[in-house]
Amino acid sequence: MSEPVRFLLGFEEREVHDADPNMTVLQWLRTRAHQPGTKEGCAEGDCGACTVVLAEPDDDGRLRYRAVNACILFLPAVHGKQLIAVEHLREDDGTLHPAQQAMVDCHGSQCGFCTPGFVMSLFALFHNEDRPDRQRIQDVLAGNLCRCTGYRPIIDAAQRMYELGRGDRFASAETDTARRLDALRGDGTLAVSGSGRAYYAPRTVDALADLLADLPDATIVAGGTDVGLWVTKQHRRLETLVATGEVAEMKTIVEGPEVIDIGGAATHSDAMDVLGRHYPDFGELLRRFASVQIRNSGTLGGNIANASPIGDSMPVLITLDTELVLRRGREQRTLPMDQFFLDYRRTALQPGEFVERIRVPVASGDWQLRCYKLSKRFDQDISAVCAAFNLRLADGVVQDIRIGFGGMAAVPVRARQTEEVLRGQPWSDDTVAAAERALEAEFSPLTDMRASAGYRMLSARNLLRKCYLETTNSSAPTRVLEHEEALV
Ligand SMILES: Cc1cc2nc3c(=O)[nH]c(=O)nc-3n(C[C@H](O)[C@H](O)[C@H](O)COP(=O)(O)OP(=O)(O)OC[C@H]3O[C@@H](n4cnc5c(N)ncnc54)[C@H](O)[C@@H]3O)c2cc1C
Ligand code: FES
Ligand code: FES
Repeated sequence: MSEPVRFLLGFEEREVHDADPNMTVLQWLRTRAHQPGTKEGCAEGDCGACTVVLAEPDDDGRLRYRAVNACILFLPAVHGKQLIAVEHLREDDGTLHPAQQAMVDCHGSQCGFCTPGFVMSLFALFHNEDRPDRQRIQDVLAGNLCRCTGYRPIIDAAQRMYELGRGDRFASAETDTARRLDALRGDGTLAVSGSGRAYYAPRTVDALADLLADLPDATIVAGGTDVGLWVTKQHRRLETLVATGEVAEMKTIVEGPEVIDIGGAATHSDAMDVLGRHYPDFGELLRRFASVQIRNSGTLGGNIANASPIGDSMPVLITLDTELVLRRGREQRTLPMDQFFLDYRRTALQPGEFVERIRVPVASGDWQLRCYKLSKRFDQDISAVCAAFNLRLADGVVQDIRIGFGGMAAVPVRARQTEEVLRGQPWSDDTVAAAERALEAEFSPLTDMRASAGYRMLSARNLLRKCYLETTNSSAPTRVLEHEEALV
């Protein structure tokens, strides 16, 4: 039997019956709730015009505010949450929220199309952080594009809003909101159906496993930052969706002495804090992974299972010797991650099987990790090439090395032949030159809209050289290859 999707729209309780599980939150807001403040720019998570904030209680009962892209979020995902859009910000007497007033004061808007999205990103920032610096503000706004105002006045507004008071009606109502959300959420698996399609959101990992065993052809959806685009851009219709986002056990991140054990439904935002602490270079790379909105919804498990050859986390996780815990029904198996990717977008997952946990070894003192992402834009862009080098040096000799690449083959991949050329050799200009030749023999990258094959190969060689330069104090002559040389 279909259940309604129950949530708070601002402070008002809403029940949506027979919701089509393929309907996005943006479509619902604009066409059903008739609240058109939230805009559609791209319908693919890129521009931020559709940014809304979801609030939900964390483990301490405090509300957590997450900016997300409404254009690729399916409506049932807001069940049990507070959905906050730009219409809900001002006080009952008409006083603007500090995030709105600061945009007015700093002239942060011209055509205004992007403005609701910026305001919502600022609103989440207002709740989550106290007076962040300019760099942090830029990171937070990387997922909001503006074509006419220019970013300086908007960044000024982000600083100014803290001068306009620190409270708002959302903060005052937090305890009451948390209690109301608890009551709306209910227990057990949420089952929604509409337009002949079904959406299930189990609450426990056992329930998820049983459901997927019964529905092996269902589409698993985590953050929906890939799956959402299948609907909005490829116009596919997904008949049965099984969501992982309500499975509390799969959102945990446990730091043990040897392993960081990450649930398959942990978001990038949550995982990057921990991974960045253990591996600062990885943290930097994840800071450039999409935008705050995408990282707040998207999961590490989804990135891995999606198996894109240009996914950013996989080359790094492979070089760290990460293992995946896969589960089907009551059966679990553990697989080294570099055995997970079989062919273009084909993984070792069997029907009904899912990524339950991701086990990343804790950093060990004598290994050094270097990660690099090359994309046309610094922020909010997909890699042309992503490279990770994890190496152990002693007395100037490569004791061991693991190299991972994205964008160089049909799957995220280890450069095993190149590693062989380096292992046991002096970490020197000559060895690196030999390894570059091995790289050229090992890979035949593709030309596509992001980069040519020649550019990818040149970049891979130069990134290896960059890693060498960064990890050695050697005064030996080094050079970065010019394009022409690489094509010879
Ligand atoms: C604007 C934008 C920018 C992006 N930028 C980047 C970027 O910089 N780098 C990058 O790598 N990616 C990027 N992506 C892609 C996407 O955000 C990531 O791949 C993300 O990690 C997917 O996670 P998700 O939880 O949203 O997965 P979903 O979209 O929910 O699912 C993706 C796939 O994984 C499967 N799946 C999900 N969870 C599981 C599980 N536990 N077990 C088995 N299968 C599962 C789904 O069935 C689906 O096939 C971007 C996407 C957008 C829209
Ligand atoms: S409409 Fe562009 S990110 Fe959603
Ligand atoms: S004010 Fe026009 S796009 Fe930003």
